[in-house]
Amino acid sequence: MTGRGSPGAPVEARRSRPAHAVADLALAPSGAARIEWADAQMPVLRQIRDRFDRVRPLDGFRIAACLHVTAETANLVRALQAGGAEVALCSANPLSTQDDVAAALVIDHGIEVRAVRGEGLDQFAEHVAALLAGTPQLTIDDGADLLVTAHAAGGEALARLIGGTEETTTGLVRLRRLQHAGELACPVLAVNEARTERALNDRHGTGQSALDGIVRASNVLLAGHTLVVIGYGWAGQGVAERARGAGAAVIVCEIDPLRALEARMAGYEVMPALVAAERGDIFVTVTGSRRVLRGEHFEKMKDGALLANAGHFDVEIDLDELRAHATGPGREVRPLVEQYDVSGRRLNLLAHGRVVNLAAAEGHPAAVMDVSFALQALCVEELVRRHGELGPGIHPVPAAIDEEVGRLKLAALGVRIDEPTPEQADYRESWL
Ligand code: ADE
Repeated sequence: MTGRGSPGAPVEARRSRPAHAVADLALAPSGAARIEWADAQMPVLRQIRDRFDRVRPLDGFRIAACLHVTAETANLVRALQAGGAEVALCSANPLSTQDDVAAALVIDHGIEVRAVRGEGLDQFAEHVAALLAGTPQLTIDDGADLLVTAHAAGGEALARLIGGTEETTTGLVRLRRLQHAGELACPVLAVNEARTERALNDRHGTGQSALDGIVRASNVLLAGHTLVVIGYGWAGQGVAERARGAGAAVIVCEIDPLRALEARMAGYEVMPALVAAERGDIFVTVTGSRRVLRGEHFEKMKDGALLANAGHFDVEIDLDELRAHATGPGREVRPLVEQYDVSGRRLNLLAHGRVVNLAAAEGHPAAVMDVSFALQALCVEELVRRHGELGPGIHPVPAAIDEEVGRLKLAALGVRIDEPTPEQADYRESWL
């Protein structure tokens, strides 16, 4: 650990105060402690930060990042800054911002941060616009807001871009739409699809943290309850596996026949959501789609059902229909739990239907984000190194980066693995 900016090392980190829009700068000491705690669980990113500090591969580059403003993100920002970049940060979700971390980034690290927990859509749009007005050369997105907005605006903000990276499935769906329309103007590295990201992020990150959010918000006992997972992609698989491990009976709902088959072969009950609606105690949407739980489902749910969304956008649970089917307004019965009376049954909406792991807990644990953000840092370096070489379009993360991150994470975990013998290497080559 370099100690740069940690609570015990105020010195060089106390830079001049940048432009910012954060809730309360006085929260900085608590944010600094959180950043340090996360840093201790991010050994791969820390090694990259140390190398960046020595080599300064991002010297003079301006980077705009629209990410969840968490302690883990703060450590990515520190690594980019150590590499010589000037970084500005806004929040990818109004409920995920850790206000104390935002304050610490401004005060201790001199970072332009525009993020306030609970901010409205207008404020969010202002923050994105302010970051783009700084004409960044590189963007880091979690949901593609910076790149989609830059493309809609065109002009200077777009002209200066040399590339971007994307952290989520949803962001890549939006960017692929731009690409198919022939409009994507810069290279984008698809961090979300890297092998190391696949191995950890959704299954272990969402798997654990979505349940963490549900439990923190509601204090529900998972054992003995029926949990319905809607969507059996990587994240859904993680949620289902963790819920089963905690003693829940798990039902999976899917529209993709092969994923549904996988779920069945993994031992879960599989059925349409309308049938599961009558059976579930806890519902978790993880589809990346919209209105997967709607009026017809609410009408069948049991008294006391919990409704949570673990997808990126708050469109998976149809909130308008929930309100339309309810008698009277929702009642806040606990922080982040709104209760609706639907035909005499109490339905409990968690975290306003927003991504529950970030809104009601702390998102993926730092040990998971270590891999995601190590990939992000190396991909940004790659975009700079290969400027002018990579054409516009969505590119996979180079295998060398994936392997380096995988190797570093294994080493940090103290795990050693075999090398193929020369005979095995020849044998494999002979089949290629
Ligand atoms: N996405 C999911 N979990 C996260 C975290 N802890 N920090 C930043 N982005 C995230």
